[in-house]
Amino acid sequence: MTAPADGVLVVVPTYCEIESLEAVLARLHAAVPTAHALVVDDGSPDGTGQLADRLAAADERVHVLHRTTKAGLGPAYVAGFRWAREHAWPVVVEMDADGSHPPEQLPDLLAALADADLVLGSRYVPGGRVENWPAHRLAISRIGNLYTRRALRLQLTDATGGFRAARAELLARLPFDEVASQGYCFQVDWAWRAVRSGARVVEVPITFSERTAGRSKMSSSIVGEALARVTWWGVLDRMADRLPGRVPRPVPARRRTGGRR
Ligand code: GDD
Ligand code: MN
Repeated sequence: MTAPADGVLVVVPTYCEIESLEAVLARLHAAVPTAHALVVDDGSPDGTGQLADRLAAADERVHVLHRTTKAGLGPAYVAGFRWAREHAWPVVVEMDADGSHPPEQLPDLLAALADADLVLGSRYVPGGRVENWPAHRLAISRIGNLYTRRALRLQLTDATGGFRAARAELLARLPFDEVASQGYCFQVDWAWRAVRSGARVVEVPITFSERTAGRSKMSSSIVGEALARVTWWGVLDRMADRLPGRVPRPVPARRRTGGRR
């Protein structure tokens, strides 16, 4: 199929989300009836991939990408973005499958994309909220975002979040083939690359609600990977300032917005 000129593709990564997937796609289509969804399943042993196939057979707005092993959030999104490019989708959205990202707020993200290249759904700008998260999860997220802001000199309040809308032209410019991030730091990785490439990046408030079914795939190794990579990117970011031309930016820096200098 060829995507419509104003088409929106929502990439939904899944690993063992059989209890949540159908409801979240129904909410998506109630909120934005013209949106299509691409489920990127990593061979979930609970049958999420087969459920996605059944939903796709019943609704032409649902597509499925099957991957064989659980390779992490980053590679799943890279595969989804590649599929979006091959099928010429002009707007690409990231959304979790567990209902934490309210599809009802997707119209807010899409509206903000009129004047932006990347819109981040943010829990930590005024109007943003987190509901029912245990205190330790909120602490990890707040501290992680604070550290990211400092280390990478970004003015973003929620660079780790995963409810976003982007223009395809931005995704085409970013070197996703080089992205090594496995876990949730993939989100920081490409938000930072987007800002440093001169993209217009804005945050709009969202309400994140803890999942009511299934389990989070967050782990200490995901936190560890994020800490190590963000620290290293922070070093590279400063070296690129001091040794212009010697240390390549993640992508060529042109006009900069959103980055604190
Ligand atoms: N295909 C695939 N492969 N999907 C995955 C994998 C994987 O290895 N790991 C997680 N997912 C999917 C989940 O099935 C879910 O749809 C989504 O990615 C988010 O995973 P959760 O495990 O629910 O994440 P969380 O709620 O703990 O984390 C939230 O906070 C992170 C840090 O702020 C989310 O908002 C993340 O997007 C965010 O990065
Ligand atoms: Mn979740």
